[in-house]
Amino acid sequence: MRQMVLVGFLQAQNCTNLASSWRHPASRTDSWSPDFYRHIGRVLEAGKFHLGFFDDRLSMPDMYGRDHAHTVAHGIRCVKLDAVTVLTVMAMATERLGLGATYSTSYYEPFHVARVFATLDLMSGGRAAWNVVTSLNDGEAQNMGRDEVIGHDLRYDRADEFMEVVLGHWDAWEDDAIVQDKATGLFARPQQVHRLDYQGRFLRSRGPFTVPRSAQGHPVIIQAGASGRGKRFGARWGEIIFVIYPNLDAGKRDYAEFKAEVAGFGRDPAAVTIAHLVSPVTAATTAEAEDKWAEIDKLPLEIDALSLLSEALNFDFANKAMDEPFSEQELERMSGLQGIRDRVVAVKKNPTVRDFIRISGRGRVQNPIVGDGNQVADRLEQWFAAPACDGFVISATHVPGAYEDFVRFVVPELQRRGLFRKDFAGATLRQNLGLPVPTVGAWRARRAPVA
Ligand SMILES: Cc1cc2nc3c(=O)[nH]c(=O)nc-3n(C[C@H](O)[C@H](O)[C@H](O)COP(=O)(O)O)c2cc1C
Repeated sequence: MRQMVLVGFLQAQNCTNLASSWRHPASRTDSWSPDFYRHIGRVLEAGKFHLGFFDDRLSMPDMYGRDHAHTVAHGIRCVKLDAVTVLTVMAMATERLGLGATYSTSYYEPFHVARVFATLDLMSGGRAAWNVVTSLNDGEAQNMGRDEVIGHDLRYDRADEFMEVVLGHWDAWEDDAIVQDKATGLFARPQQVHRLDYQGRFLRSRGPFTVPRSAQGHPVIIQAGASGRGKRFGARWGEIIFVIYPNLDAGKRDYAEFKAEVAGFGRDPAAVTIAHLVSPVTAATTAEAEDKWAEIDKLPLEIDALSLLSEALNFDFANKAMDEPFSEQELERMSGLQGIRDRVVAVKKNPTVRDFIRISGRGRVQNPIVGDGNQVADRLEQWFAAPACDGFVISATHVPGAYEDFVRFVVPELQRRGLFRKDFAGATLRQNLGLPVPTVGAWRARRAPVA
């Protein structure tokens, strides 16, 4: 029987994906302490989650009014730690949980990213994953020594080269290259350690790479592109794909289309996991879950939405009055997460700021599922069986409570229904995802389909 994949959506920041979550009475207030991450890691591992993964952004949200005062005052994702470092702490506290972190292809050198994740993969015994993103706003560009963000499609063209360099370096050491024969003095066979010598349009890197392959070959690749260009990138490179589908019918359609796009690259669609983001709010009874939801639903403020819309769309919403419609030119200038803009414009052609807040739901809980374990499991089963996804990214309304509740009330129900495994299948993330160790150079066979 097909089994669902579960991913914990983690933030190495002062709040969850819900910016106001830090005000929740049960939220821990030490999200910059190692114990906080050790605890979450253990909760996810007890729930047999495949993966805990950290998102990233290289700036605090300060596009709104071009100022960070509101961000800091309201705690709108203003603390952001380095995800890989935090992940190392989580790796030391767990044994089987997969460990994913987001790193941008826009500003780091691919050699550096390849080395960081290959090292993490070795240090975690083959449990690492890398969420490949392109950076999307000017704040990130300015923190990283540039003036403005790279144009939308161009940043994916660059990211394609980035992947060729990273995967190329990960191929450098053949699996049996290391001999370590103290008697003969041969450490490794030179003919089995290769130089990349990559020369692209945007990137160059020589090699040879300095980190041997891990027990799972190399880290698992995660991607979450939502635009046409982004999805093409994900279909070519991604092994786990994060999505937010607006409803079940759209999900069924997009899921099938995306799997076809994966096949178009000559890849096995069954080997690519599509995980849909949901925010469960659960308890022992429906009434208790509804009480919990009432408490969470009153946390967000309007400023959260304005700040996060400005940040994500790379557009200062403080320049517009609440009920003033955006012009076509202004809408065109929004260069960040264009999917948010397109979703709003699909509902209202010339939206106002107020429309953006209402239709996008930014700053509020995304896809809440409120109910007891049975009710939440019903909804997950419905999407999984449709099929509209292969698993779920579980977003927390507050931490650690939301994960503790999910593991306590929903996981046993999913296991009882045979939808979710009762234990880890193996030691590495690939074993737990049912993926083979990639052979050296296998990715080179992926070619863009002829249009
Ligand atoms: C669950 C999930 C997690 C994401 N995490 C990040 C992240 O950490 N950093 C980031 O810049 N974008 C993140 N994204 C955004 C995507 O990488 C992507 O940019 C977005 O979906 C827009 O698609 P596009 O780039 O094709 O326009 C995430 C998306 C989803 C659904």
